[in-house]
Amino acid sequence: MTGKPALYRTLAERLAALLAGETDPIAGAANTAALIYHGLPDLTWAGFYFRQGEELVLGPFQGKPAVTRIAIGAGVCGTAAARGAAVRVAEVDRFPGHIACDPQARSELVVPLVEDGTVTGVLDLDSPLPARFDAADQEGCERLVALFLAHFRQAPARTAYPADVDPQSGCRLPLPRREELDEIGQRLYDRLADPAGGTLRGLRGPGGIHLHSPGLSRHAGPLNHYLRHEAGLGERVRELAVLVTARECDSPFIWLAHEPAAATAGLSREIRDIVRYRRPAEGLAEADAIVIALGREIFGNRRVAPATYARALRQFGRRRLVDLVALMGNYAATAALLAAFDMQPDPGQTLPWPH
Ligand code: SME
Repeated sequence: MTGKPALYRTLAERLAALLAGETDPIAGAANTAALIYHGLPDLTWAGFYFRQGEELVLGPFQGKPAVTRIAIGAGVCGTAAARGAAVRVAEVDRFPGHIACDPQARSELVVPLVEDGTVTGVLDLDSPLPARFDAADQEGCERLVALFLAHFRQAPARTAYPADVDPQSGCRLPLPRREELDEIGQRLYDRLADPAGGTLRGLRGPGGIHLHSPGLSRHAGPLNHYLRHEAGLGERVRELAVLVTARECDSPFIWLAHEPAAATAGLSREIRDIVRYRRPAEGLAEADAIVIALGREIFGNRRVAPATYARALRQFGRRRLVDLVALMGNYAATAALLAAFDMQPDPGQTLPWPH
């Protein structure tokens, strides 16, 4: 068995090469499963289950069709997920609660995916041979899982700003200077500088950029205020609309500014991750699913399908739908400003997706 560490080293190198440049975790998981299935001898099944609440749901795999949902705590997969530690089963028939997918399977290795102390899924391997997996396999697979997670985890926090970014403003423009503004501009400046002034980022955000055009600033603030607070969309719809816009316009800065508000508005980690990782939104409450579909179609497809439009109209009515789409457009305009002036997240902030 001395060859195993070398085999896993090779697989780790090949995995890193396979994942390089890919930002979609499902695409990455599919290739990871294929690499393992074809790279390790004597397997009948290799693949992922991803956690959704108290269940593991089948992800990309190689092998025969498998059970799609496993409760946390059930079977070998659910046991590994509940323990947050790998489980090796030498003889599956002797594992109480083992869920048989393939009658050929005799032994099994399950490695949990642990992110920030939370189990987010498992990697599951089945073999037609009894006692196929030993400590070296476990270690090797844990290493592959760690590599997979590290790749799709947020890009490391930036330690230094790009050369053309002003260290005070965090973007390509300097901070606006109060003394250079007229009276109205100064009033807007004071509101932005006030932590209780109603903007999330104050002068170190889109408001600071707007102030370089005081005329724009005069209009942009009230429009944003109307859409956020007077349009009656409700906090949950509003913050979900902002997150999906941030994601689809690839604006980590907007995402980071709004994710805490989204969580406060009741948007669970699970739904935030559906938006963040662009996972299917099926099964969500209708209002949530529609907001996500609208954002994806507007910014991703550049057109909204008749069925999506009909659902959105039914859900929100004319006036609120117009405001909802305008809100998304308002944040897309912000995303454009943030991209053009290269607004940086705060030092030490972790990016929400590879960027
Ligand atoms: N045997 C697993 C179920 C998944 S299949 O092996 C692919 C278990 O007991 O959790």
